[in-house]
Amino acid sequence: MAIHCPVAPSLRIPLRALALVATLLAGGAQAADGFPQKPVTMVVPFSAGGPTDVVARSLGAAMSKHLGQSVVVENRTGAGGTVAAAHVARAQPDGYTVLIHHNGMATAPALYRKLSYDPLKDFEYIGQVADVPMTLLGKKDLPPSNAAELVSYVRKNQDKVNLANAGLGAVSQLCGLLFEQAAGVKLNVIPYQGTAPALTALLAGQVDVLCDQTTATLPHIAANKVKLYGVTTPSRIRALPNAPTLQEGGLVGFDMKVWHGVYAPKGTPAPVVAKLTEALQAALKDPAVSKRLDELGAEIVPVAKQTPEGLRSWLRQESDKWQPMLRKAGAVAD
Ligand code: MLT
Repeated sequence: MAIHCPVAPSLRIPLRALALVATLLAGGAQAADGFPQKPVTMVVPFSAGGPTDVVARSLGAAMSKHLGQSVVVENRTGAGGTVAAAHVARAQPDGYTVLIHHNGMATAPALYRKLSYDPLKDFEYIGQVADVPMTLLGKKDLPPSNAAELVSYVRKNQDKVNLANAGLGAVSQLCGLLFEQAAGVKLNVIPYQGTAPALTALLAGQVDVLCDQTTATLPHIAANKVKLYGVTTPSRIRALPNAPTLQEGGLVGFDMKVWHGVYAPKGTPAPVVAKLTEALQAALKDPAVSKRLDELGAEIVPVAKQTPEGLRSWLRQESDKWQPMLRKAGAVAD
């Protein structure tokens, strides 16, 4: 005989909702059970050997110690980092594909009319990694010897001075745009798949200027293979104590640093995200990582930022900061 167990109408929906939540939680727990059971792919949006790649490889190697599986770096270049971000937004949400990206996550929506993903909606946030200052460089035989001279030189040669960058959405592009705005000049922009090939072109004297991160530029500055016009942060940096800031060089209000975050596709189960965040935090405590990043002029962010909420709120803040300015500047692609 069937036993009828009456449930008050007002309880029916909440009970059903509770059952759904329980199912989802069980699924999530299962998804995290034993995770990871195979290598995790960390997608880098720019070329191998460049600044994002350098941070990714150092972080990935240390995360793999904690996860017990390798973290394999995959370089997917193109369209200022948006090709890689779109790829990860569409990947299986199982924790086995993650993205490391920088400020480009905040700037791309203002730069690409047909962006196929929303950085604020289509990802789970693992945490922030490190902040990196940038350096404005010229090829070795470029005539100007400081930032003020560079501004006059570009004014006299409007549209003729070549700036290499890594495409719309790259920090090298953002830095170049800030330079153009602060100096009231126009540069002839030459995009590359990352600043690794752009730096090679600068060293070979094929382009005139490049704004790139200390993680890539310090050895070339130390070897005196490039001209250093200044650092992009408002204060001088520990890695280059004698280098003036661009503000000191007369570029009023110039203030830019690069920040990195790690993302997973939307829908990655919360327990998997938690494991990835735990591995990221463990990696950033690893003395080999802090030594390597310190040598490269990068600064590991405080633990509160190495969290999903730390990354999500920072991304929102940076989106609100840069997108109106970029929309006004009108540097837009399809
Ligand atoms: C790179 O890794 O090549 C750079 O981060 C590109 C850029 O300038 O954003």
